[in-house]
Amino acid sequence: MTELLHLDALSVGWPGQAPVLADISLMLHHGERVALVGPNGAGKSSLFLSIAGVLAPLGGQVRLMGRQMQTGQFLPDVALVFQQAEDQLFCPTLAEDVAFGARNMGLAGAALDLRVAQALAACHLTGLATRPVHQLSGGEKRRACIAGALVMQPALMLLDEPSAGLDLRNRRNLMTLLRQTGQALLIASHDLELVLELCPRVILIDQGRICADGPAREVLGDAGLMAAHGQEVPHSLTPHERAPHMHWPQAGSGS
Ligand SMILES: Nc1ncnc2c1ncn2[C@@H]1O[C@H](COP(=O)(O)OP(=O)(O)O)[C@@H](O)[C@H]1O
Ligand SMILES: [Mg+2]
Repeated sequence: MTELLHLDALSVGWPGQAPVLADISLMLHHGERVALVGPNGAGKSSLFLSIAGVLAPLGGQVRLMGRQMQTGQFLPDVALVFQQAEDQLFCPTLAEDVAFGARNMGLAGAALDLRVAQALAACHLTGLATRPVHQLSGGEKRRACIAGALVMQPALMLLDEPSAGLDLRNRRNLMTLLRQTGQALLIASHDLELVLELCPRVILIDQGRICADGPAREVLGDAGLMAAHGQEVPHSLTPHERAPHMHWPQAGSGS
C-alpha cells in the first residue's frame, strides 16, 4: 500500500480558542477505510476541516500524496462530506449541485455530464437529477452529498457522521455504497456497528490527542479504553451467554 495522507504533528483549533487537537501524527494509505471515533466535541469535525484545507492548522502539516496542503486551495483529491447536508448542498437542482466539484476541476460539456451521470448512478439518484435539492428526502440528501464528492473521483473522502439520522434501509444502502467505492475513506462516526462493518482500522481521539490507533475489533472491544473515553463496546463485540438477546422481558416471563 502506498502512502496517501500524512498528518505530521498537526495541531487543530479555532481562532481565539485553546487548540482542539495537538500533535496529531498518522498515516493513511490509498484505498484504506479508517474510522475516527471519540466523544462529542473531541475534534473530529475540526480535524476534517483541517485535512480538507478549510481550517488552517495551528502547527504541523497535512500532506496528501507527498504534497503539503495549502489552506483555502481547492484540491479535488480530498472531498469532505459534511454532517449536515444543508451545509453542503446549495445549487438549485441536484444535478447542478453534484456537478459543482467537477466543474471546479475544469470539466465541461459531455465529459462533465458523464461524470455527473456516473456519480448520480453510483448513489442511486439518477431519476432525481432535476429535483430541487430542498425537495430531497434526508436519505437522498445524504447520497447527494456523497455524489458531490464522488464526482471528483477523490483519492480520499472524509465522511462526517454519514449514518446520522438515516433509517435502517438508508443506512444499509449507504454502507453498501461506501463499501463499493475504491477510495480511501476516513469516517467520523458514533455508529460503531457501521464502523465495524466498514473500517478495519479505528482511531480514537479524546482530550486533544489520539488515544488509540489500531485494528477496529481491538480498539472498540477494549472495554476499559472505551469507558475511559465515554464510549461503549459495540453490541456485536459484547459476549452474550443466552441468545437471542432481548431488550425487554417477554410477556408472561414473570419478571
Ligand atoms: N466553527 C467553530 N468555531 C469555533 N469553535 C468551534 C467551531 N466548530 C467547533 N468548534 C469547537 O471545536 C471543538 C471540537 O468540536 P468538533 O470538531 O465539532 O468536535 P466533534 O466533531 O468531535 O464533535 C469544540 O470545543 C467546539 O466548540
Ligand atoms: Mg462533529
